[in-house]
Amino acid sequence: MSFTPRFPHFLHGGDYNPDQWLDRPDILDRDVELMHKAHVNCVSVGIFSWARLEPEDGVYVFAWLDEVIDRLWKGGIHVILATPSGARPAWMAQNYPEVLRVNDRLQRMHFGERHNHCLTSPVYRRKVHAINTALAQRYANHPAVILWHLSNEYSGDCRCPLCQEKWRGWLKDKYGTLENLNKCWWTSFWSQRYTDWSQVEAPGPMGEVSNTSMWVDWRRFSTWQCKTFIENERDAVKAVNPELLCTANLMERFWDYDYFDLAEAIDVVSWDSYPEWHSGDDVQRAAEFAMNHDLMRSFKDQPFLLMESTPSQVNWKPINKLKRPGMHLLSSLQALAYGSQSVMYFQWRKGRGGAEMFHGAVVDHDGSENHRVFRDVAQVGQALETLESLYAQPRKKAEVCIIYDTQNRWAIDYAQTGHSKNMRYYDTVNMHYRSLWQQGISVDLKDMRTCTDLSGYKLVVAPMLFMFRGGIEEKLRAYVEKGGTLLMTYFSGWVDEFDLAYLGGTPHGLMDVMGIRGTELDAIYPHDENALVMNDGRRFAIRELCEIPENRGAETLGVFENDFYAGMPCLSRNRYGEGTAYYLSAKLEQAGLDAIYGDIAQALSLTRALPDNLPKGVIATERGGAVFLQNFSGQEQRFSLSEPYTDLLTDEAMQNITMPANGVMVLKK
Ligand code: GLA
Ligand code: ZN
Repeated sequence: MSFTPRFPHFLHGGDYNPDQWLDRPDILDRDVELMHKAHVNCVSVGIFSWARLEPEDGVYVFAWLDEVIDRLWKGGIHVILATPSGARPAWMAQNYPEVLRVNDRLQRMHFGERHNHCLTSPVYRRKVHAINTALAQRYANHPAVILWHLSNEYSGDCRCPLCQEKWRGWLKDKYGTLENLNKCWWTSFWSQRYTDWSQVEAPGPMGEVSNTSMWVDWRRFSTWQCKTFIENERDAVKAVNPELLCTANLMERFWDYDYFDLAEAIDVVSWDSYPEWHSGDDVQRAAEFAMNHDLMRSFKDQPFLLMESTPSQVNWKPINKLKRPGMHLLSSLQALAYGSQSVMYFQWRKGRGGAEMFHGAVVDHDGSENHRVFRDVAQVGQALETLESLYAQPRKKAEVCIIYDTQNRWAIDYAQTGHSKNMRYYDTVNMHYRSLWQQGISVDLKDMRTCTDLSGYKLVVAPMLFMFRGGIEEKLRAYVEKGGTLLMTYFSGWVDEFDLAYLGGTPHGLMDVMGIRGTELDAIYPHDENALVMNDGRRFAIRELCEIPENRGAETLGVFENDFYAGMPCLSRNRYGEGTAYYLSAKLEQAGLDAIYGDIAQALSLTRALPDNLPKGVIATERGGAVFLQNFSGQEQRFSLSEPYTDLLTDEAMQNITMPANGVMVLKK
């Protein structure tokens, strides 16, 4: 599927900031020449260009951008054109202070930095709409322009009077009456009852900080605010040329907004990926980023774009390590394996000043193509050209679905229980993911709202679903009843969508399906020792959390080893309807999850990318009939496959394989 019909190919390129070099036409000319040498076919332009595009209120200056785009087009380079709302000009902050964000301490910020505008301000929305319209009128039909890049990394919230008013309006729409809001926010606690709408303020450290129902609503409101902000941007450019699609670059592990909701406002998901390679365990890192890629693919159930990655190092981590030889190709092709249609970078060329002057770039300050990083980038460009046949081969729907839900994540993070403020929901989901990933099993991720049709999945995994919403208990019940296999864990079905505790036992509405009721949650110390002991004797350490079960008819597969709940089921299986429901009552070490998912994968005959058992840290991922073999182990690996393959990258026959550290191959039968 192509998002860019004007140029239906894998995109290779990155953020390009010619506006920083307008007094150096020699450099701008050289850029196009270097782009060819780097096998770059597309760049993103204008991301932070507002001050150059509208130097005075209402005065647009496009001549420089005309030249830039024409020069690129003549050189055969395509353009992803950005709207500039990620950072506004100084005159706007000065003339219209309402565009500036108010922080959670209720201080209005001054001009400076980026990503800090008020999302409500009618002035800001009007100005954004106007410049987007002007950009679209000028460029939306230019043959070089293939996609809109709306703003940059939308994030954060604002507590200005305009936003507070919007918040109250949103609550009125949601709850209808103040009495209903009082009930759903449980305000009889600590005398929090509201008697007039005007008393309701945004949560934050200057006022209410501990009402969790209110916080979860605030995050939903912020998501909605941002979504309507995006729609305003999108509608401006689409009014001119509805065919030109819109993306917004999302972020990893993102928490501020519910991306499943937000993604509805854009046509194409893209994201910015910055793993800390070589900082410890690259296999762990790879598992995390594979899940990020799968999440991005899952938001809209379609391929995505890798919009930013660094060609070498970043400049904003505490330790900014270079990618070791091989890692650039490996991590770039990892994105492709999981469904990306591009490998793009931040940034094309290092600037001479500013915060990011030392951030990795394709072209360093030496301006030379004779550079290790430049060669690595050119190699990726060549690989994308070689793999062109995979462009029309998106990843197929997986056999396994993991339920990952941002609103549940907020609720868990706000909840005061267990390991307070450190329940590690995201990491726990990733541990479950990792067990499947390393077996070469594909996974889709859905949230509780979007998992409307689970029937096609052989396995559904639901770790730590603390908050039930979207009728999830009915969806899961129906899924198991009709023959599905579900794995659910401790700390599930505790609260409803208002973050109010369910009365009558957990997991709410599913105790009969699981054959288990969770009675108490025990948070244990790192020095506390407990384990899951399986019926066949295998033993796996338990960490952090144990839920004491009451067995309501499930078959015990393994028990707690220690403590006053020793001998009680820690892993159980229940037949319900035509299906099977596993319940895991404690947080296990990775090896324990690996064993459980090994057993389940075998029982369900889940499809693996390769039938062979690979060395630890060598991962196989299938896309379009090709198998991406990725060596994240940090060492050379030698192994044999049961059948012969050809490596599409080198055209060499492969069966007895030697893979260098950070090696990657794309195998085809
Ligand atoms: C983000 C931003 C870019 C740049 C990079 C640096 O992802 O979108 O503008 O700051 O980080 O890594
Ligand atoms: Zn505001």
